[in-house]
Amino acid sequence: MVKGKITLRTLIGKKKKGQKISMISTYDYLSARFCDEVGIDSLLVGDSLGMVFQGKESTVPVSLEEMIYHAKAVRRGAKKAFLIVDMPFMSYQVSVEQGLQNCGKVLKETGAEAVKLEGGEEIAPLVDKLVRAGIPVVGHIGFTPQSVNLFGGAKVVGRDKQEEEKLKRDFKALEDAGAFMVVLESVPSEVAKEIWESSVAITIGIGAGKHCDGQVLVFHDLVGLVEDIKPRFVKRYLEGAKLFKEALNRFKEEVEKGIFPSEEESYGR
Ligand code: KIV
Repeated sequence: MVKGKITLRTLIGKKKKGQKISMISTYDYLSARFCDEVGIDSLLVGDSLGMVFQGKESTVPVSLEEMIYHAKAVRRGAKKAFLIVDMPFMSYQVSVEQGLQNCGKVLKETGAEAVKLEGGEEIAPLVDKLVRAGIPVVGHIGFTPQSVNLFGGAKVVGRDKQEEEKLKRDFKALEDAGAFMVVLESVPSEVAKEIWESSVAITIGIGAGKHCDGQVLVFHDLVGLVEDIKPRFVKRYLEGAKLFKEALNRFKEEVEKGIFPSEEESYGR
């Protein structure tokens, strides 16, 4: 095993010691390498790649083969981080057998260490089977982007009593079925705190406030490459899009003026 490798045991140990877990959702070799080099604990190959990488409207059209392709690239860049792969829409909802087969395929072909599934009580039987088969599972509740058509758009989940109780039931069902980690997306901080206070599974927040065991952001959001949408929970640590465009403008100008390439970028005989 690579020195400093983050395993499931490392992550559970961090929760026990009250140490926060960092997670980044990303889709390619280079960004994965950057994350690994700075010691990000876990990488998620998120199906948000449907929007961020492919320019689609939602995560719904993303295929299993596309997830596997991106996960292999991320694995090549991330030697130490604990790697989780999102199971795309309709790759696990049809039946427990379908879910088992596809999750197994992802682990076998990508070198990832866990799969992430959206849903609560309804997927508990599959989670139980996966864990018994030796596949670590991450749950995802709150706003679940694969159900965007049902939600009618992005929303905060758990503001009313009924939604709050459903969230808590979903969390418990996932935990009881053996999920070792659950992502809470777009959940009021107070609700996330109450879930976290009695949790055994690791809670990872995205728009769920600070009372979680860890936090996840999408790489492209964090470095400011996504300009058109900025949910409240995104913090830009860099104005990447602005910097990229400045560089591209300079290149265009220098090509047009004959400044680039200079002698320095040219070969002699
Ligand atoms: O698809 C994704 O990137 C995700 C994270 C934002 C949690 O599910």
